[in-house]
Amino acid sequence: MANKQQIYLELSPGVKIPALGLGTWQALDDDGEKAIDCALEAGYRHIDTAYVYQNEKAVGNIIKKWLESGRIKREDLFVVTKLPKHGNRPSGVPKYLQESLDSLGLSYVDLYLIHSPFGFQDKNPSDPNSEEIVDVTTDHIAIWKAMEDQVINGKARAIGLSNFNERQIERVWSTAERIKPSMLQVELHLYFQQKELVEFCNSKNIKVCAYSPLGSPSSSKVLGKEVPDILNNETVTDIAKKYGKTTAQILLRHIIQQGIAAIPKSSNPKRIKENMEIFDFELSSEDINKLNALDQGKDGRLFDFSIFKGATTHPEYPF
Ligand SMILES: NC(=O)c1ccc[n+]([C@@H]2O[C@H](COP(=O)([O-])OP(=O)(O)OC[C@H]3O[C@@H](n4cnc5c(N)ncnc54)[C@H](OP(=O)(O)O)[C@@H]3O)[C@@H](O)[C@H]2O)c1
Repeated sequence: MANKQQIYLELSPGVKIPALGLGTWQALDDDGEKAIDCALEAGYRHIDTAYVYQNEKAVGNIIKKWLESGRIKREDLFVVTKLPKHGNRPSGVPKYLQESLDSLGLSYVDLYLIHSPFGFQDKNPSDPNSEEIVDVTTDHIAIWKAMEDQVINGKARAIGLSNFNERQIERVWSTAERIKPSMLQVELHLYFQQKELVEFCNSKNIKVCAYSPLGSPSSSKVLGKEVPDILNNETVTDIAKKYGKTTAQILLRHIIQQGIAAIPKSSNPKRIKENMEIFDFELSSEDINKLNALDQGKDGRLFDFSIFKGATTHPEYPF
């Protein structure tokens, strides 16, 4: 019988992340606030945001409401945010983390991630909407030292990477003198299972968090391409019928059961609740194998960041 409770992954001694969290990209303002409120009500305690999602204030408003009402304690929550690509330099780390903390209304985050391995020049404060320009001087080792400082000065409990490739992770990991990266957040779903990268992270004791775990069904406009409909895959539908679950629940359980965290985004109360109800069943190894067989390798990748002009020419472009 499967455990009906949330599963936790240990990032470092005493720092445990709930395996299932709420993604918040494209959840803005009122929509974002309602989603966080509903998620906390449904038992979510891990919230994934980022400086660039422009919703840290909305996330902070609801957290404040819950903390003030005494319904949760700060230590029950796990808040993740990320260093923006235009802050990808040592001086950008304390600057942008502090901005995020101010927006969130928190004194620390539980996990701070470098959002992308490539960097852009810092924004001109008097013209924040000006065109973004690639900064080819991005130095991961120097940035990582500034990330470590944030743990030492109490502004982040854990630090990690996002969208880094194996070579980039290895370099940061092997040169990190004080604190190793404890988490890698990457695109990971049924059609892009990232088996080799996950194995590599396991070998370094780096936990993996799957973004777009449902295949990001509504992002075709942003990505400028057709997004395959994983939620209606025939094999997943058959397996869902067998367990009396939805296809979203099967996709999420498939990820979580492998010791990987997942952060499905939803702004819909029914789906927010549905996505959390994955701890009362277990997929058989036969069904896990059927789902594993649907991996399309690198052809399954949705996010290649070519939407950011110049990113693909950056020396640290990861793909
Ligand atoms: N580090 C990075 O570079 C990076 C990149 C991308 C994403 N992320 C993070 O990962 C999170 C998740 O990724 P994502 O938003 O791209 O994609 P996703 O979670 O795979 O998919 C979200 C979409 O699925 C729909 N959905 C959610 N639950 C559903 C269900 N049970 N049944 C049917 N549809 C459902 C949502 O619509 P409704 O809202 O209408 O329910 C939304 O359109 C993001 O929100 C963000 O926090 C990180």
